[in-house]
Amino acid sequence: MKCKRCSGPAVVEVRRHNAAFCADCFVHHVREQVRRAIKSHDMFGPEDRVLVCVSGGKDSLGLWDILLDLGFRASGLYLGLGIGEYSERSRLATRAFAAQRGAELIEVDLRGEYGFDIPTAGKKGSRSTCAACGLSKRYVFNRVALDHGFDVVATGHNLDDEAATLLGNTLRWQTDYIARQHPALPEREGMVKKVKPLHRLSELETATYAFIRGIDYVVEECPLVAGNTQLRHKEAMNALEARSPGTKAQFFLGFVEKAASVFAGEDRQGVALTPCERCGQPTTGRFCAFCRARAQVLGERLAQAAGDPRTDHRQVAGELSEEVMPAEIYASSGGRDG
Ligand code: FES
Ligand code: ZN
Repeated sequence: MKCKRCSGPAVVEVRRHNAAFCADCFVHHVREQVRRAIKSHDMFGPEDRVLVCVSGGKDSLGLWDILLDLGFRASGLYLGLGIGEYSERSRLATRAFAAQRGAELIEVDLRGEYGFDIPTAGKKGSRSTCAACGLSKRYVFNRVALDHGFDVVATGHNLDDEAATLLGNTLRWQTDYIARQHPALPEREGMVKKVKPLHRLSELETATYAFIRGIDYVVEECPLVAGNTQLRHKEAMNALEARSPGTKAQFFLGFVEKAASVFAGEDRQGVALTPCERCGQPTTGRFCAFCRARAQVLGERLAQAAGDPRTDHRQVAGELSEEVMPAEIYASSGGRDG
């Protein structure tokens, strides 16, 4: 096999592109895919401050690496989820990467900052562990970006993640989620712009990139992943891809190009947002989904905490169980983030 670009000996095959690359040209290919994603969706420019949400895995550290190499002003954000040894290893991997690249890393500890961790939220709250995890991530990413004046939040979702999420959203016909499953979501009142620059690259490509670049990432999966529905959808997409290379790209990139506009009216962009009475983040109700979930896990009564003695028990309980979650305007599924 010869490298498509330089005709030297190839080390990686990308079946979807019917191409093979040597290590250097593969790195070039990956950077070009990211550059193309950023440009075609007008994600950010050289002056913008980009907050990269890093989990310590191959995708998010790879994304940070690529953005730094492309010359963007990219800082990292690590959120400590309190998932035992796994979280510790993830923290160390992100710290080591930041130190090596001389890049700014912001660290937030969920328990230290908000009083609970993800395993506790999974046991005590009404959401699944992954849903509580996704909600906490989206909330903290947005909040840190606003507090530190970042222009845009970037996550490491790759093509496999996006294709699996789209499959799940389509199987359930969650048209409002489908409408928001876009590689770039514009900013709106209190919500920072959110982008996915790796959406043109498969998981195999991001893993190969991290390997070639010598990025020391956490290989193990989150130990709480069992039961995550996105995993099943990934398996289904992998089975299709194995028979017909290019299926994932046709499905997701085809959606973005040809079908996303059909669902554009289905999201809740028109719904008015007001500040959460507890934390000030945008929501359509009195309290945002994160504050409600947190109060539930901590056994607190929200209205009281917000200083409203008029609200009785039943009303508070109603608010807590309310399943319209405006703080999840950016949600695409209960899946994993980056
Ligand atoms: Fe880790 Fe869901 S909480 S995969
Ligand atoms: Zn809130």
